[in-house]
Amino acid sequence: MADEDFKRLSAKAYEISGIVLGDQKKELVYSRISRRIRKLGLKNFSEYCQHLEANHTAEVNEFVNSITTNLTSFFRESHHFEYLAKEIIPHWKKQNKSIPIRIWSSACSTGPEPYSIAITLHKNMMVKQHNIKILATDLDSDVLKKGREGIYPLTEIEQLPKDYLSCFQQNATTGMGMVKPEIKEMIQFNRLNLLGPWPMNAKFDVIFCRNVVIYFNKETQKELFERLADQLNDGGYLFIGHSETLHGMTSRFESKGRTIYKKIR
Ligand SMILES: C[S@@+](CC[C@H](N)C(=O)[O-])C[C@H]1O[C@@H](n2cnc3c(N)ncnc32)[C@H](O)[C@@H]1O
Repeated sequence: MADEDFKRLSAKAYEISGIVLGDQKKELVYSRISRRIRKLGLKNFSEYCQHLEANHTAEVNEFVNSITTNLTSFFRESHHFEYLAKEIIPHWKKQNKSIPIRIWSSACSTGPEPYSIAITLHKNMMVKQHNIKILATDLDSDVLKKGREGIYPLTEIEQLPKDYLSCFQQNATTGMGMVKPEIKEMIQFNRLNLLGPWPMNAKFDVIFCRNVVIYFNKETQKELFERLADQLNDGGYLFIGHSETLHGMTSRFESKGRTIYKKIR
């Protein structure tokens, strides 16, 4: 892959997704795009760039799916779920049951994040008595498919507390665990580019935007945090990833502790 080809691919990635592909990502791009080149029967990276730049919707989609990093796990950064259970849910339990509760997992990857949210709610409040909606979105259509299926290797869930394991139908023969329907039905999975238009009308009480802005530059992060503030109800919460910060980005939140922010204006 010539430097020029890598530059063209990086420019395309940035244009579509905001993802900045630095030089350290060259090898990753090489191996992932080589697969696409073989599959399409193209000769080299330069031909692939031409194909991509012609903006064939299907290939743009495949390209984006190839360059995203989808690492995730159930109850990752568990203090967020503890905060949800101890500080936020008790307040929801006291409020009028007809008031909708809306939560957005905005870069949900294969689903462990929104399912961890749903399990936390299910274990700590009478979810059926409330009007709860969890929206789970991602740019990558492959991960959304996995999220909708809700089937995970038992190795990814067996470390969870026993109480949480009861939210999965476990199959020792296949080595897989399926999220039970009562948890699944709390979540709506949709494709959404954080950099594009957001079709949601209603605002959210909590937004999880974790481990995604690290792939964006500072300008993109600033714009995104402003939009996330606009999309939150007053007093709503934003949870970000362990290596991310709002410091120097926006003044619309107050810190509530480790990577937990409350909207103040
Ligand atoms: C490392 S995963 C984080 C998953 C989960 N939030 C967590 O913390 O475990 C980052 C996710 O961000 C998604 N992503 C990257 N750029 C995006 C964009 N512009 N819009 C929406 N999602 C994006 C990727 O597809 C990937 O699934």
